Amino acid sequence: MTTATSVKAVVETPLSIDHAVPGSDARPAWRSALRPGRRSASRDAQFPATRAFDSDRAAWQAIAVCLGWSAMIVAAHHTRTGPVGHRTALVLHLVSLAVGFGTVLAVDACGLAVLAGRRTIGWMLRFSARADALIWAGFTGLGVSGVFLDPKFGNAATLVNLYAVLVVGLNGVYAGTVRDRIPVLADDAGVQDLPRSLLLRALGSGLLSQAAWWTSIMIGTFAS
Ligand code: HEM
Repeated sequence: MTTATSVKAVVETPLSIDHAVPGSDARPAWRSALRPGRRSASRDAQFPATRAFDSDRAAWQAIAVCLGWSAMIVAAHHTRTGPVGHRTALVLHLVSLAVGFGTVLAVDACGLAVLAGRRTIGWMLRFSARADALIWAGFTGLGVSGVFLDPKFGNAATLVNLYAVLVVGLNGVYAGTVRDRIPVLADDAGVQDLPRSLLLRALGSGLLSQAAWWTSIMIGTFAS
């Protein structure tokens, strides 16, 4: 099987198969994963080539995030909304928040299940790949509806909020590149089979994502 078809097979396998990691030892899976040298030789033999990682695509996505972010700020400077428009935009803002951040929380919960050794890497990757569109749709909805909420640019909290939004977007692109770099693993592979550097990057990106989303939520709720 070629690398491309292996990737396809991993992404397209249905979610309904048994995803618990078999034969996990008593130690928490994340501990084994962060201790180098714990992976067995037979597991190493199952590590084929890495997934196709497209750095050009990631670069274009990052540029699109920066352009979209800049366009949103320019548009917000030139937009004045009446009370009905404001209320409508606020509803869209909150629906987008539920869709985007709700999906982020679901993906992060999958990550925690993998860290606890209760689910396989393959199961998490398939879930996360399918969740991507919802996260980006919610994130875009937040930006577009935010334009009509009359953000106060003279307010320092608004500026912090806008940079937090940029961090959410760029970190989302980065998280996609980390996912694309994960090797094609055996069906029952757990967190202990992940290369340590990728695990650390995924953890760092997940923590940054939570910090940036919560910054925006707190500022939107208490300081806008
Ligand atoms: C990750 C992205 C974002 C998140 C998580 C977020 C979250 C929130 C939340 C939770 C609220 C409180 C809503 C309420 O009062 O019930 C809010 C309000 C607000 N947001 Fe956002 N937001 C985001 C992006 C943006 C952007 C990009 C803008 C501006 C361009 C913006 C501008 C505002 C404004 C002006 C309010 C106050 C609305 C009002 O109460 O009249 N937000 N946001």
